[in-house]
Amino acid sequence: KRLKDIQSRVLIGTEFPSGFTTMSDSSAFLSTATPEFNLVTAENCMKWDATESSQNNFNFAEGDKLVNWAQTNNYTVHGHTLVWHNQTPGWVQNLSASAMQSAMYNHIDKVMAHYKGKIPIWDVVNEAFEDDGNYRNSFWYRTLGKSYIENAFIRARAADPSVKLIYNDYNLEYTGNKSNAAYNMLKDFKSRNIPVDGIGFQMHLDIQYSIDYNDFARNLQRFADLGLEIYITEMDVRVSSNPTAAELQTQAGYYKNIIEKCMAQPAVKAIQVWGFTDKYSWVPNTFPGRGAALLFDSNYNPKPSYYAMQAAL
Ligand code: XIL
Repeated sequence: KRLKDIQSRVLIGTEFPSGFTTMSDSSAFLSTATPEFNLVTAENCMKWDATESSQNNFNFAEGDKLVNWAQTNNYTVHGHTLVWHNQTPGWVQNLSASAMQSAMYNHIDKVMAHYKGKIPIWDVVNEAFEDDGNYRNSFWYRTLGKSYIENAFIRARAADPSVKLIYNDYNLEYTGNKSNAAYNMLKDFKSRNIPVDGIGFQMHLDIQYSIDYNDFARNLQRFADLGLEIYITEMDVRVSSNPTAAELQTQAGYYKNIIEKCMAQPAVKAIQVWGFTDKYSWVPNTFPGRGAALLFDSNYNPKPSYYAMQAAL
């Protein structure tokens, strides 16, 4: 069975790159992806630099293509992302505190209004912590302090009360300084009725680093115990650029174990990979010498990781 058809509790997603309908191999890309998933995220085209590259001039052309495709193909769209330190134009970064706060509110209002009724899940704030658990030393934090985070959520709830509002980050899968910091922030938000519905675990993994799956399951449980939904938002598992068969088997084990723990946790609402084909993965450009992190190889053939995911769902 196709990944999306194996069970019905959890949405099964992927990102699509910009221009996914006009690539030289778009037909192979789409014929592989379309039957497998029922959730999609824009890899880049809904980020601030794409949607509001100059102040209050919004461009939704590329995002609209994705939303239209999703509607035609009965996919849910996961919105990514409203407030982040990366891929945000210089004009935002150089504003005074009061102007930056207004710009953040305007961005949330306009983007969510444009997609009202079309995007039911938004990553409101992305990557607000350093790996050591301190608030990330970003222009947001330096200019506005940590309150930008809760203010973004409050604004997003007001912009569209029907949307699931997500805090999304990486390196959250194991208990430790960073996931403790995210946990404590969200616990505080819940206690003060700051509107947040879910935690996004990006899950950019690498077989070089071991992962304690029981620790991962306990970590999921403590976020679930806060009353949060859990979204696996950007999963990939890096191996070397020209992986051996053994590496691909190891990789498949990571997918299997993670997805089994997710399926055992009722708060998990979606499992999404950061692309499905190694051909268009962000990994080789970002992690030199690493690659082949996804479910299908560059020729759109399913890998051991695909069959592992199928078996674990
Ligand atoms: C990445 C994209 O895949 C790249 O194409 C882009 O150049 C940089 O951003 N965490 C996130 C995603 O939240 O938005 C990032 O996506 C990967 C890490």
